[in-house]
Amino acid sequence: MAATILDGTKIANDIRGEVAAGVKTMVAAGVRPGLAAVLVGSNHASEIYVRGKVKACEELGIYSEQHTPPESATTEDLLVLVDDLNGRDDIDGILVQLPLPPQVDAKKVLMAVDPAKDVDGFHPINVGFLSTQRLGLVPCTPAGVIEILKRSNIPTAGQEAVVVGRSDIVGKPAAMLLLNSNATVTVCHSKTRDLPATCRRADILLAAIGRAGMITRDFVKPGATVIDVGINKITDPAEFKRLFAGNARRAQIFRSKGSTLVGDVHPNVAEVAGAITPVPGGVGPLTIAMLMFNTVKAAKMRRGSGVVELSQI
Ligand code: GUN
Repeated sequence: MAATILDGTKIANDIRGEVAAGVKTMVAAGVRPGLAAVLVGSNHASEIYVRGKVKACEELGIYSEQHTPPESATTEDLLVLVDDLNGRDDIDGILVQLPLPPQVDAKKVLMAVDPAKDVDGFHPINVGFLSTQRLGLVPCTPAGVIEILKRSNIPTAGQEAVVVGRSDIVGKPAAMLLLNSNATVTVCHSKTRDLPATCRRADILLAAIGRAGMITRDFVKPGATVIDVGINKITDPAEFKRLFAGNARRAQIFRSKGSTLVGDVHPNVAEVAGAITPVPGGVGPLTIAMLMFNTVKAAKMRRGSGVVELSQI
């Protein structure tokens, strides 16, 4: 039986609606949440992401502003900017889009963001809050993965979850969130012995590696839930054929654009998985939705609200 397709676009739209309602209530009470996005230099993908984030703010009633230091910006320049944003009462969230240019000490810049405004959840204080199950700001993409599972009624407690990839942005926080929701969690990486066999243990398999179609059907236990965090642009016709042979709709996109997007999961995994997130339209849309939620959460927490969950705004 073909896998259930987990519609990330719909889930993200539901969340955006809930956040917009929360913003409306706050604005009625005299507070408009505000987000500052910092985009350094000219990275095409980053420009697209930041544009999407600013547009989402406009749609949801959140104040936003963009700062665009040049490619030549130094660590010190960014520290001055972040310090200024930290001190502003109208800014609740600060987002420094990654990657930063090589001359910049990214860790130092991220460390300078006030943890209370760290809507990406990258500051070590928020990492610590997550790992000790305290209320804090949680990285957007992993938080979105949990929302997909919750809203699709896919249980995590007692389930075997295998996370492939150990990045600070996705793999590690996703593993921590799954652990906090009582899954039994394995984290795999480039040195893992017999990756396919380890992945086949998973009831929930999360791929966050950044390699087009690397997870093939022999990595997947029949009926497993597969969450694909990868977004890879492919332009090589041989690679296209390996991934999409026989897919007329994709072939047409590939011919007309010269490229197409594919996740870390091979499309043929849909033939064995029980449920799967598509690319595009799976995890991707959740990242911005959860950033919007984090901005509202930060705005509320900074003003002394207690527990702030998505279900409570
Ligand atoms: N670059 C890729 N993903 C992200 C993200 O979630 N946040 C930021 N700030 N930069 C990114």
